[in-house]
Amino acid sequence: MLRDNMVKVVVNGVGTIGKRVAEAVKKQDDMELYGLSDVSASGGLRTVLSEDGALHKTSLYGSSEDGVENLREDGMHVEGVLEDVLGEVDVVVDCTPPGIDEKNKENLYEPNDVKAIFQGGAPKDIAPVAFNADANYEEAEGEDFVKVVSCNTTSLSRTMSAVDENFGVEHAVASLVRRGGDIPQDGRGPINSTVPVTEVPSHHGPDVQAVMPDLDIKTLAVKVPVTYGHVHMVNVELEQEANEEEVLEAFEEQPRVSLVSAGDGYDSTGKIHERMRDLHSERSDMHEAAVWEETVTVENGTLYWIHMVHQEAIVVPDNVDAIRAMFELEDKDTSIKKTNDAVRIKSVP
Ligand SMILES: NC(=O)c1ccc[n+]([C@@H]2O[C@H](COP(=O)([O-])OP(=O)(O)OC[C@H]3O[C@@H](n4cnc5c(N)ncnc54)[C@H](OP(=O)(O)O)[C@@H]3O)[C@@H](O)[C@H]2O)c1
Repeated sequence: MLRDNMVKVVVNGVGTIGKRVAEAVKKQDDMELYGLSDVSASGGLRTVLSEDGALHKTSLYGSSEDGVENLREDGMHVEGVLEDVLGEVDVVVDCTPPGIDEKNKENLYEPNDVKAIFQGGAPKDIAPVAFNADANYEEAEGEDFVKVVSCNTTSLSRTMSAVDENFGVEHAVASLVRRGGDIPQDGRGPINSTVPVTEVPSHHGPDVQAVMPDLDIKTLAVKVPVTYGHVHMVNVELEQEANEEEVLEAFEEQPRVSLVSAGDGYDSTGKIHERMRDLHSERSDMHEAAVWEETVTVENGTLYWIHMVHQEAIVVPDNVDAIRAMFELEDKDTSIKKTNDAVRIKSVP
């Protein structure tokens, strides 16, 4: 039950995902960013709250008494401890590191009867719904706890749901080339290796099945020393016949998949990164999964394509849609459109 017309949102854990989700929430006309919560003042937190930062003047809470103390020692203005204001909040978007999320559910959200959204690193059983707006928006309607799936799973769910809805997926295999770390994660490098996930198939296939239980998919994965973007090479045995034009059209119609052309000069993740910089996309973020149109190929009933995923940005719109679904504010298509318009998805040429 909402306290007034605007959903009051707190983002707990203001790192790579949290700061982006907070900014996206602030851009919605049916949500209010009630506050932020963290345990220490990283450079990122200081920047977004500074006079020139996008979250300037947003109330900051410590997510524990120790957190309040640390933040104050770090020179931050802190309103108090998160738990004291949870009675005034409708939902917490938890963007804390894996392991902290489940403790927060047990110690903060459940006892204070507040809804919460968790991220891809949280355990499978943290919420009854593994969420991707395109694939299963309705399943989150009315729920108290929802997990927005990881960046890899989000891109596979978007592309696979487009293919499955139009042509049916008999069986899919995806090979994932994953970025080694995000830009600020310099503790993960310098590195000069390609590291395979030696568990085959990798966990990413079952992660997609948490969203699309009937999908027959296997995945393999390696990690490489880049910071901007995963690349997925996918092949799908189709249930129905399709040609390349029809598949391109299905991707084109998917509200969070973009087609990019190597022939137009976007023939690498680096060049797509540069494109987002040239377009003045905030932080050079790309919220869509970008399918290289030349790679879309159909041969003897098997469909092939390659797409890239900007890992830091792709889950942000799904967090916003998860909020609308949990409060049953809008249907799927309306929510996706509202979010896309507010964060400029597909309005970037
Ligand atoms: N990064 C990605 O590309 C990506 C993509 C999709 C999904 N995800 C998922 O999103 C979640 C967050 O990842 P992230 O990359 O955003 O992590 P991150 O950059 O490390 O940010 C986590 C934030 O939470 C803070 N924090 C730590 N303990 C806390 C606590 N007890 N209460 C409140 N805040 C706390 C951290 O503060 P300190 O820095 O002081 O520890 C940091 O500011 C994970 O589940 C991850 O798997 C990440």
